[in-house]
Amino acid sequence: TPQAATITLHADTPGPTYDKRIFTQFAEHLGNGIYGGLWVGNDRSIPNTRGFRNDVVGALRDLGTPVIRWPGGCFADEYHWREGIGPKAKRPVKINTHWGGVTEPNTVGTHEFFDVTEQIGAEVYISGNVGSGSPQEMAEWVEYITSPAGSLADERAKNGHKAPWKLPYFGIGNELWGCGGNMKPEYAADVTRRYATFIKAPAGTKIQKIASGANVEDYNWTEVMMREAGDQLDALSLHYYTVPGGWAPKASAIEFGEEGWAETLALTWRMEELVTKHSAIMDKYDPKKRVYLAVDEWGTWYGQDPGTHPGFLRQQNSLRDALVAAINLNIFAKHADRVKMTAIAQMVNVLQAMILTDGKKMVLTPTYHVFKMYKPFMDGTVLPLDIKSPWYNKDQWTMPAVSASAVRDKAGVTHVALANADPNRSITVTTTLTGLNASRVSGQVLTGPAVNSLNTFDAPNAVVPTAFNGAALNGGTLTVTLPAKSVVMLELN
Ligand code: AHR
Repeated sequence: TPQAATITLHADTPGPTYDKRIFTQFAEHLGNGIYGGLWVGNDRSIPNTRGFRNDVVGALRDLGTPVIRWPGGCFADEYHWREGIGPKAKRPVKINTHWGGVTEPNTVGTHEFFDVTEQIGAEVYISGNVGSGSPQEMAEWVEYITSPAGSLADERAKNGHKAPWKLPYFGIGNELWGCGGNMKPEYAADVTRRYATFIKAPAGTKIQKIASGANVEDYNWTEVMMREAGDQLDALSLHYYTVPGGWAPKASAIEFGEEGWAETLALTWRMEELVTKHSAIMDKYDPKKRVYLAVDEWGTWYGQDPGTHPGFLRQQNSLRDALVAAINLNIFAKHADRVKMTAIAQMVNVLQAMILTDGKKMVLTPTYHVFKMYKPFMDGTVLPLDIKSPWYNKDQWTMPAVSASAVRDKAGVTHVALANADPNRSITVTTTLTGLNASRVSGQVLTGPAVNSLNTFDAPNAVVPTAFNGAALNGGTLTVTLPAKSVVMLELN
């Protein structure tokens, strides 16, 4: 039976801004997320600028990467910033106790990180050390980065950077309920208040303080944080990973059939419920939505690629991950009044990465291509939509087959994103456009021959966007034939 869905696009009642920070990236000192993936130092065989590889930096620049969160993750609460400044040869070599027990040379520290974010064109989101650091250490780091004067500013200048840097976002620890200190929510809220007190921006500047938020459906965490510390915060985070098959043993990133596809996408849809419920709690304490929700860790978490270090969280990325990305990005549109920042985990070589590297080689993942397709969403105005979609079911996994979102960009162009989770059937989507006079439609589609189609170093262009000609405009109606297992981005003028 032919599948059909209907959408009403309310261009006449524009919603909130789709904040470009929803495309924030996360780069942790974990596996080859930094070393090898971003930083190659003096390795002349890989073209680099002051140690950062040009191919990866260029690809991230092309994405318009708005913000990068660093240095963790769990690593953040054991990171001591002083160990990462000054002459590299004198920096202590530590053990990365969270991620594989390997050595951490501290070669990439504050100066290097600011350098690479400038090369990429991104803003900086630093996560401070609450779990094993003091408020003084945190305050001094902030002063070292931002202060125009004083001995910490002098030290910064001596280390090569006279001008203060901009520090728009600062995380007050990470996962304080777990690797950040195993705290109970009441205690974490008090600790957050205390540390937040000492994060001070120089006159005329502002540092947004982002508190460590809930794990998945820990609604009590959000409740306590908002009640006890909400007045001190600019944002509260939320972490939710898509983990098909559970934590142990983890499922394969590429060896799966339709059931693994359906389970992964159904679990991704949980984001809708999580964001709705956490937002409702925030609404109770912050009805004016001053404090935003920062979903600063999301994405798929599979077993590590065969032959790779289990502590490095290196995983391949397939068409399934492209759908995961699109479904999440569409969910965030619906909640853009509260969700102003999100960060997929992680940027390079770790979990649901944009980019994979191996020595000199680099490949852009299907997830990268989805981010590129959604680039016009950055700071666009969300256009609300109602969808009636057929359901896609496989075994116990069930979800709407079609997921969608739309924005109008600053130039007045409308962008409509559509994803079809059904791997077997195309779907005809009939969209009624209210308050929109468009006469031309064009677009791109991302799909592949199999649910686990992927890009490899040898075949890097197996899953890449191609021109889409399955959309037609007729008066106020847009008709789109969405191929099975695809992501489509349309532009309406
Ligand atoms: O992204 C990997 C890890 O997942 C992060 O370090 C931590 O915050 C989360 O548990």
